[in-house]
Amino acid sequence: MLLLRGGLVVDPSIGFEGEADVLIGDGTARIVSQPPEGVATRDVSGCWIVPGLVDLRAHLREPGEEPKEDLASGLAAAAAGGFTTVCAMPGTRPVNDNPAVTEALLGRAATLRGARLLPFGCITEGMRGETLTEMAGLRAAGAVGVTDDHRPIDDTGLLRRALEYAHTFGLLLMQHCEDRGLSRGAQVHEGAVACRLGLAGAPREAEEAAVARDLRVAALTGAPLHIAHVSSGGTVALLADAKARGVAVTADVTPHHLSFTDEAVRGFDTNAKVLPPLREAQDREALRAGLQDGTLDCVATDHAPHTPLDKRRAFDAAAPGVVGLELAVPSLLALVREGTLSRQRWVEASAMAPARLVGLTPGLASGDVAVIDPDFEWTVSEQTLRSKSHNTPLLGRRVRGAARLTFVGGEAVFDREESGP
Ligand code: DOR
Repeated sequence: MLLLRGGLVVDPSIGFEGEADVLIGDGTARIVSQPPEGVATRDVSGCWIVPGLVDLRAHLREPGEEPKEDLASGLAAAAAGGFTTVCAMPGTRPVNDNPAVTEALLGRAATLRGARLLPFGCITEGMRGETLTEMAGLRAAGAVGVTDDHRPIDDTGLLRRALEYAHTFGLLLMQHCEDRGLSRGAQVHEGAVACRLGLAGAPREAEEAAVARDLRVAALTGAPLHIAHVSSGGTVALLADAKARGVAVTADVTPHHLSFTDEAVRGFDTNAKVLPPLREAQDREALRAGLQDGTLDCVATDHAPHTPLDKRRAFDAAAPGVVGLELAVPSLLALVREGTLSRQRWVEASAMAPARLVGLTPGLASGDVAVIDPDFEWTVSEQTLRSKSHNTPLLGRRVRGAARLTFVGGEAVFDREESGP
């Protein structure tokens, strides 16, 4: 048992926000007014004690691309970022389109110290967009959702069946929305920056056209649809409209789309090359507003580690993606400090909403807890990141905010005092 003293507790599951002592251990955590005697104590004054963060979308690269990341490094990086649960995307090598891969991932994760792993399986066999996977088997093996990762389901009839099928088996269907006809060859957002750099761009409409179609199909089926990494302001408007009509849609936004614009690629910085691309200031403002008002339900990192071999290349040959597991907290807390995001919405969008989407019951009572130090300053570097990869435009920058302690089911899986900055 460990007593956390002097922190600010924010636990929406019991409607509590205030300074309190928290006793953690034996699979749970709870507020105590009379702490038992003789229990180990940690002073966490100045920190926030919140339900553990949940990442709906991370690429952990195992099996097949372990030089970029593996389950050990990814789950450790997640715990260091305050995450207690991470959903692993299925676009590995081989892809996770069958129960054997799902089971192998869960078996390996059970031997590791770090965040809890919840795998997503593929929507289609081989992520080829043709034949649906055996979703019942994926669910039985422990998958919590299905997605074809960064590949959209182009065939509208197939999407309809996939939504119905996933719903039947209680799997969350997550879709990357992209009209690949409109985005063909694109490296960045279509706009002034692309023009100046001479790079092919994808217009916002490449996302919005796909979102509009998917919302129609979701409404037709009545099955829940989750839209990943929203990048365009127009998508926020489409979501608001669909939600007002009662469509069962949820959506996430990444820390990088909330923080940067396409200006970040100006010097051909491949660390700012992502899918979907960073867009313009008006989009970033709409994403921030959508997150604050709940049109965007959650934050998901889209953690996409790549080696220097994949990134130090000509812009159009470089792999898209940024690491995010350890940068979500400082990126989002910058918005909280600025006043564009309330602390309550940050907790709701980073912990509560994503947990519910994958069937967890969020709140301190679950024993999944993060102790966040909002004022901890650190430099993002190859030394400080636990992830094997360091591809982020924040490399070398000073940031503020980090997890001090992370607990999964009442067990400490990360302690910054033990492992250093
Ligand atoms: O930027 C991205 N990189 N977006 C994705 O959806 C996939 C990811 C990757 O796997 O590298």
